[in-house]
Amino acid sequence: MSEEPVIQPPKQRFAPDPWCLRETAPDPATHFLHETLFALGNGYIGVRGTAEEGWSGPAGTSRDGTYLNGFYESEPIHYPETAYALAKTNQFMLNVPNAKGLAIWLDEERFDPLQGTLDAYERSLDLRRGVLERSLRWTSPSGKSIAVHSRRVVCFDNKHLLALEITVTPLNFSGTLRIVATLDGAVRNLEAGDDPRVGSAVSGASLELLSAEQEDGFSALVQRTRNSGFTLVSATLVDAPGTVRCSRAALRLEDACEVPAVQGQPVRATKYVSYHTSRDYPESELLPRSRALLDAARRDGFDALAARQADYLADFWRQADVEIDGDDLLQQGIRFNQYHLLQSAGRDGKTNISAKGVTGEGYEGHYFWDTEIYIFPFFLYNKPEIARALLEYRWAGLEAARRRARQMSHPKGALYPWRTIAGEECSAYFPAGTAQYHINADIAYSIRQYLDATGDDDWMRAHGAEIVMETARIWLGIGSIDRHGRFVINEVTGPDEYTALVNNNYYTNAMAQAHLEFAAALAARLATEFPADFSRIASAMALEAGEPEAWRSAAAKMHLPYDEALGIHEQDDSFLSKKRWDFDSTPAENYPLLLHYHPMVIYRHQVCKQADVVLALLLLSSRFGLDDKRRDFDYYEAVTTHDSSLSSCIFSIVAAEVGYADKAYDYFMETARMDLDDTHGNTCHGVHTAAMAGTWLGVAQGFGGMRTDGGTLRFAPTLPARWRGYRFRIHLRGCLLEVGVAAAGTRYRLVQGDALHFSHHGKAITLTAAQPEHMEAA
Ligand code: BGC
Repeated sequence: MSEEPVIQPPKQRFAPDPWCLRETAPDPATHFLHETLFALGNGYIGVRGTAEEGWSGPAGTSRDGTYLNGFYESEPIHYPETAYALAKTNQFMLNVPNAKGLAIWLDEERFDPLQGTLDAYERSLDLRRGVLERSLRWTSPSGKSIAVHSRRVVCFDNKHLLALEITVTPLNFSGTLRIVATLDGAVRNLEAGDDPRVGSAVSGASLELLSAEQEDGFSALVQRTRNSGFTLVSATLVDAPGTVRCSRAALRLEDACEVPAVQGQPVRATKYVSYHTSRDYPESELLPRSRALLDAARRDGFDALAARQADYLADFWRQADVEIDGDDLLQQGIRFNQYHLLQSAGRDGKTNISAKGVTGEGYEGHYFWDTEIYIFPFFLYNKPEIARALLEYRWAGLEAARRRARQMSHPKGALYPWRTIAGEECSAYFPAGTAQYHINADIAYSIRQYLDATGDDDWMRAHGAEIVMETARIWLGIGSIDRHGRFVINEVTGPDEYTALVNNNYYTNAMAQAHLEFAAALAARLATEFPADFSRIASAMALEAGEPEAWRSAAAKMHLPYDEALGIHEQDDSFLSKKRWDFDSTPAENYPLLLHYHPMVIYRHQVCKQADVVLALLLLSSRFGLDDKRRDFDYYEAVTTHDSSLSSCIFSIVAAEVGYADKAYDYFMETARMDLDDTHGNTCHGVHTAAMAGTWLGVAQGFGGMRTDGGTLRFAPTLPARWRGYRFRIHLRGCLLEVGVAAAGTRYRLVQGDALHFSHHGKAITLTAAQPEHMEAA
């Protein structure tokens, strides 16, 4: 790979401030990683945490980037040996023009914190305010000292807008100060190397220049993607003292201001930045919209944008904050993760959550099942409007999923892509891609959760039911009744990507069963309660009269592999006959196995990359007894490497349920600070959004024992020995419930809403507006 870091960052230990991430020196050893951790985003724009003056550290210690969720280029996938219906085109999130640049010149010397002397330095991200701030004092090689204060905000309340402000104070001289704002279109994407999780198979520039505009501090680049055919307008507006002079060198636009600097007198420049694309607006509107937005932002000023950001976040934390009493490191990790989730989630119905959010190019900005199974509950119970927008995205992709089903020889139904941006299958390695048919059941599962939690029948009638039924049809397309009368699903890959193309993956079959039952139940409900909707959808899908009954019958006959001798669910028909991986002889440096062994070597063994059966134990919790869960956990834990970042959170939750408190805690810790401590060694390429959401799941579903499958809300709280207590809130059916667990017991409080029924370790509880609190002693 061309841009592999040459310096490995040490494991990070930020001071355990519960609301803030603080860096105390710019350091080549941590810079690449910190670019990710200090990245800002608003679900659409994402900017990596590189400073305004850029970075002059050694090669490989930086990968600057600005990304727009869902803004992609496409390239044909080249297979040296191809086959029918393999994914033809890749889509990858583009690195777009860098508008962060604000260089400072003291006469002829350029400010660079890695040259001269840094007399003081602090960079911080306050999670309550959502502003990245930096304060430093620096002395140039020739002895001139300045104080620099910078602020950066990527606005949550306007997806197209970000702003940067820089204040420079000459401390021991008077002279000329020049601030040069740049908009740099000469950016590239990272090229793929040996690690399949990093970079894209692209070389060269993906954006062609159509025009450039510069006038009165306003600069804009109008560019078009070569293959996907989208137009992008990146624009900046500089507000600075003195005259702003513009200049241009190829794709680099500059707006410079020069001021006589007086010792002790601060000089401030503010740069407002916008990105608009033809994915959202007609091409002719892009420039006028950019101009209008930036003018309005300048009129409002940075302080007003910052104040709106703080308001937005105050509202978010009021709903979503998870408090841990007794562990500050963990508290910081949890809030950091929640904050990054908020920064990552597309919320316009056209975009989703990529595996790395908008913080890096890992996994090419693709959306996976990570959203539905890991991240969706966080938004559903904390910001339901975002959860709904995520489902809208799947609705927007239904036609593409129908087309994909036809390519895959399914005459009916819809098959969602394993990884995609705009809806088409982008997975070039089908054994760990297209073969993961469980994506259909995962989406249906999240729709069911959504409907249970919100009672949003309007959405169900308009979109949800059609998605669920169309996707359910695929199971009858790939499954069949075997000679024992069982419904079997052959040649699929389950969640565990160290086992591929198997018959009857337990997770897939169990989730397909739930999906089929749900689809049949929805069809019946629609037909009785909303007959007009039922006929409309049935005719759109050409649904035949007997189909819902066929779904029910397939579900009833579903083969769910179980080994009587071991008393465990088999991961698939062949898993238990394989040789166990020789863990004792595998050196630590050979993990993750995927970077050290051919896939077939791995597939031949009993070894799991991530939770598979164990995940089914959580999602379909009410279908298993506790003893079964414990035996499954014991068996699969022993053969799981957790090489996927999606694994430890699920093991933590199930460990808590089966009574393994220490394991629950350890797996939870692994998840909660995965990115802050860079435990997978690749956070430099972007955060792990699924694992971040796994932290929230770990509190609510793990220690809080929250389950909603089967239509009822249940809690079974436990308190980790190292904590004094914890508290989280959930939104459900118009109510806001607070669950507080401490040594004395669990306190439930209905913060908002009329009435809520749930159970505590099996005991039924009802809270009402008149009686909003209930305490259960430990
Ligand atoms: C995991 C998948 C996941 C993907 C993106 C892979 O390593 O095995 O389950 O969807 O990463 O996060």
